[in-house]
Amino acid sequence: MAYRSPDGMDARVRILIIDDLIETAQTVRKWLSTMPDLRVVGIATSAREGLDLARRHQPDIILMDVNMPGMDGLAAAHMISLELPAQVIFMSVEDDKDLMQEAFKVGARGFLVKPLRADDVLSAIRRVVQLPGATRGGSGPLEAPRGKRGQHVVAVCGAKGGVGCSVIAANLAVALAEIASEVVLVDANLHAGDDHVLLNLDGVTHTLDMLRDPEEVDVETLQSIAVKHETGVRLLRSPDDPEAAREYRRETMRGMLMEVREHFDFTVVDTPISLGEVNEAVFEIADPILVVTTPEITAINRVKSLLERLRRNGVAPDRCWLIGNRVDGGYQIAPKRVEQSLGQRFAAQLPDDVNTIIQSVNRGHPFVTQHRRSAVSRAVHDLARRLQHYVAAK
Ligand SMILES: Nc1ncnc2c1ncn2[C@@H]1O[C@H](COP(=O)(O)OP(=O)(O)O)[C@@H](O)[C@H]1O
Ligand SMILES: [Mg+2]
Repeated sequence: MAYRSPDGMDARVRILIIDDLIETAQTVRKWLSTMPDLRVVGIATSAREGLDLARRHQPDIILMDVNMPGMDGLAAAHMISLELPAQVIFMSVEDDKDLMQEAFKVGARGFLVKPLRADDVLSAIRRVVQLPGATRGGSGPLEAPRGKRGQHVVAVCGAKGGVGCSVIAANLAVALAEIASEVVLVDANLHAGDDHVLLNLDGVTHTLDMLRDPEEVDVETLQSIAVKHETGVRLLRSPDDPEAAREYRRETMRGMLMEVREHFDFTVVDTPISLGEVNEAVFEIADPILVVTTPEITAINRVKSLLERLRRNGVAPDRCWLIGNRVDGGYQIAPKRVEQSLGQRFAAQLPDDVNTIIQSVNRGHPFVTQHRRSAVSRAVHDLARRLQHYVAAK
């Protein structure tokens, strides 16, 4: 069944494929044709023909080869960025950093390396548009709000250890990466970070403490140190070395975050619970600060003092979002009572779901992609969408 918006118009995402190898274009079209919310509006085998089709059909997304005889993909993307609202995702046989940088410079929203895989193509598309469930008004340009890059640091902080801060931070970063193009997860737990385990990236040896000098934080350094997970999220993992952690002070964290955020749509910081100077640097920059609590009296008390402390430090109440985790988990305190006691509503409530979460944690597979339909996953996707609207409205 075709997707229709309330006014009856075809609301499918319109896609144009440009590749001089007709077989590649046809294969991609075949993959996309199985998706009821996507529609391939044309195939072209040269950039010029592609530009003509793009002007005529006004696609939302253009999947385009980089190397083509005549005008190449980069030149075509440049022209597209000047005259059309379409978002370009490149497909290239070359896995080359410089080329990627060039591609992003001309406005590309994604870069796929050939040989292509159906899953990768689909997730690249879904990362660019806000799907599923987005109500789109007809076939015009994409309307998903996009924040300005370089402004959005989101801190996730637990009231006390074990309330689910890291699990939520990691899954939130993955969910955000589906609707924003560049997301980094910073594991600021300098003594004992878990995010590399949660993302099954424990082989990664580059760590956050390698970024000390803000002046050295550039695209190339980030590309090698912030390792890319298969979902597109990058991770700055916590250091293994306690000595390195000790040397990481308030100014280092502050300077590093200020630089890193320039390169991403969202910088999600898994923030440690100890109220030290490193945290203060994170809280100073982050907006919003997501404070995670379970409905347990000890956690609630800690949240209370954390919120008071943040207020004393001049953090406006609307910058602090309360996140209830395991709200139906047999704690015998109803979410409403937690809200009353803290004088604040929950911005999101996640159910207790031991099966889904334990499996996700043990395998290092984010539940937001592996168990997309579970209630806990839906709550995190919903939170990601709300964050996107929040930052877009600022
Ligand atoms: N919604 C949930 N349902 C069930 N178990 C959860 C949930 N959230 C977290 N957990 C469990 O709590 C453990 C600790 O979570 P974690 O994110 O590491 O806590 P923190 O970072 O706050 O110390 C997880 O490994 C998982 O087993
Ligand atoms: Mg943690």
